[in-house]
Amino acid sequence: MQAVCGLHTEPANTGKCYSPQRQKRRLRVQVEDDLHTLPIENENLRLPRFFLASGKLFHYAICQMDDQEYCIVRWAQVADAKILGEIHVSSWRKAYGGIVPDDFLAALSTETGADMHQRGILRNPKNKAVIEVRGQIAGFCGIGDCHDSDKPSEDTGEIGVMYLAPSYWRKGLGSKLIRWVENELRLRGKKEIVLWVLEANTPSRCFYEAMGYRHDGARKMVTIGIPLPVVRHSKTL
Ligand SMILES: CC(C)(COP(=O)(O)OP(=O)(O)OC[C@H]1O[C@@H](n2cnc3c(N)ncnc32)[C@H](O)[C@@H]1OP(=O)(O)O)[C@@H](O)C(=O)NCCC(=O)NCCS
Repeated sequence: MQAVCGLHTEPANTGKCYSPQRQKRRLRVQVEDDLHTLPIENENLRLPRFFLASGKLFHYAICQMDDQEYCIVRWAQVADAKILGEIHVSSWRKAYGGIVPDDFLAALSTETGADMHQRGILRNPKNKAVIEVRGQIAGFCGIGDCHDSDKPSEDTGEIGVMYLAPSYWRKGLGSKLIRWVENELRLRGKKEIVLWVLEANTPSRCFYEAMGYRHDGARKMVTIGIPLPVVRHSKTL
């Protein structure tokens, strides 16, 4: 399985709009696995329409899942806000059941979530990445500078939100998404990434641990219906 941190077509193809339904295109895809660059030739790669129609071939990633299937990581667009609102709410309800009060989770609104995502994307088009499988958005991850007083924000990035739709959990997509945002933050000059997670959210903490984020001792209380402890995990890039 390969993780990809950038797609580069041959110069002659850059910016062209293809019809992936009708024909296959030969593309030279440059794969960056961790920090090593591994060029591959993939003559069977079919790119979805939006990907090419946008004409922006950089800052996207194609991650090959197996011979037949790939997923794409890209920046969220305003048109994605509705589905992001739905994923946000369904992921909260499943992940936070038994932690956050039921009435709080029941009252969550996908419309409010969509509005929040739309405003966020308009404010900063490069702070939320989405991962797509078969043309469907499976989840998203929001990034930015860290504003914790004990961390220099010029050196420290933060993962603010990371949610996949429950049907996509534990299929390796979170790993691909987080590696992409890590690369993005590295390109912005960040040397460390932090994130805050509910102390009782054991599955996600296991995920972050598996990705190299260790609890660094910081802990504080937040209110989500009731006061709840959150802990900070951090990783040096
Ligand atoms: C947390 C989340 C983003 C992880 O994404 P994912 O695609 O499910 O994770 P991956 O499949 O890439 O998992 C990679 C590794 O992390 C660890 N991991 C992931 N989920 C885990 C779980 N539920 N329990 C224990 N370890 C887990 C495993 O080591 C896993 O590797 P393996 O499957 O080979 O054993 C996703 O599950 C999610 O959206 N959860 C609900 C929302 C949430 O709590 N978000 C965090 C808010 S701070």
